[in-house]
Amino acid sequence: MSKIRAAITGVQGYVPDYILTNDELSRMVDTNDEWITTRTGIKERHILKGEAQGTSVMGIEAVKGLLEKTGTDPKEIELVICATVTPDMMFPDTANLIAYGAGLTNAFCFDIAAACSGFLYALTTGARFVEAGAHKKVIVVGGDKMSSIVDYTDRTTCVLFGDGAGAVLLEPDDSGNGIIDSIHRSDGSGAEFLRQKAGGSRHPASLETVTNQEHFIYQNGKPVFKAAVAGMTDVVEKVMARNNLTVDNVNWLVPHQANRRIIESVGKGIGFPEEKVMVNIHKYGNTTAATLPLCLWDYESRLHKGDNLILTAFGGGFTWGATYLKWAYN
Ligand code: UT7
Repeated sequence: MSKIRAAITGVQGYVPDYILTNDELSRMVDTNDEWITTRTGIKERHILKGEAQGTSVMGIEAVKGLLEKTGTDPKEIELVICATVTPDMMFPDTANLIAYGAGLTNAFCFDIAAACSGFLYALTTGARFVEAGAHKKVIVVGGDKMSSIVDYTDRTTCVLFGDGAGAVLLEPDDSGNGIIDSIHRSDGSGAEFLRQKAGGSRHPASLETVTNQEHFIYQNGKPVFKAAVAGMTDVVEKVMARNNLTVDNVNWLVPHQANRRIIESVGKGIGFPEEKVMVNIHKYGNTTAATLPLCLWDYESRLHKGDNLILTAFGGGFTWGATYLKWAYN
């Protein structure tokens, strides 16, 4: 019997029905399918339409599907952590609203805001509660309604983002599988390059912040691109080295989906063959905290018990990290 680890024992994603294509975007701003495809790899993204529909709507669907497919009684869930930077409201946390909507009446709940690294941070946090023996069934959700903070007149950001949510169930595992190691980093100097300026305590919502369009995402893409490639490459190499892993015995690299060129630079730079790198950015765009669980959901049928996976992400903050886990089921 090896030490108790937290293993992912189920994954479920949810994306809204409405598909925003590159062609539709090219009728909204001065862009075209060729630019978007070659510069980002994105073909379409899903958008949550309708009045008063927040991130929790997608999280609830993902959690309900997860409970159903894993045969889990909602009352057994003891903790829900939701990674998001597009919460339904400032408080209560979206995790609370998801638990309420999915009937998880015995869970305590909180959010983690670490932008595109949010799911990775939340996964590590949830895993600690399981490893410590505090909780046996923990749900980690990554979800964002990026369309709620995207300026659809800004061609440099509006082509990039989409809406979605993914959820995983964490349970104790003593067979050697589960989450083995993580490295997390952050650097607040990155706020200059990627941020949503207003709406917090420094610049509360006002007529002026709305007029100045300060509630939208601002990104200076080039420095973020460079920092993302350097940051993810560094932590993936470090986590592999300290666990005696090579590209031969890692089955899958699971990278945050912000730009296909970033994914390729990180993968090729470390030496991963293309077929070991999960990519679904063409279907969903950048769904921020949802990209990693949506990748696991899309590739679930190709994963085997004991497979070595390296998850990595980079995002606003800056925040970044890498997690090594052994997949726990077939
Ligand atoms: O997930 C959170 C972390 N975020 C990221 O990892 C994103 C990192 N950054 C990126 O992915 C890339 O920097 C972008 C996709 C955002 C931009 O790609 P780029 O290759 O860095 O392009 P650029 O910003 O240097 O722009 C090149 C040209 C510019 O025109 P000029 O100045 O050369 O005439 C832009 O105005 O492309 C123009 N451009 C566009 N053209 C058509 C920018 N956006 C568009 C567009 N359609 N949508």
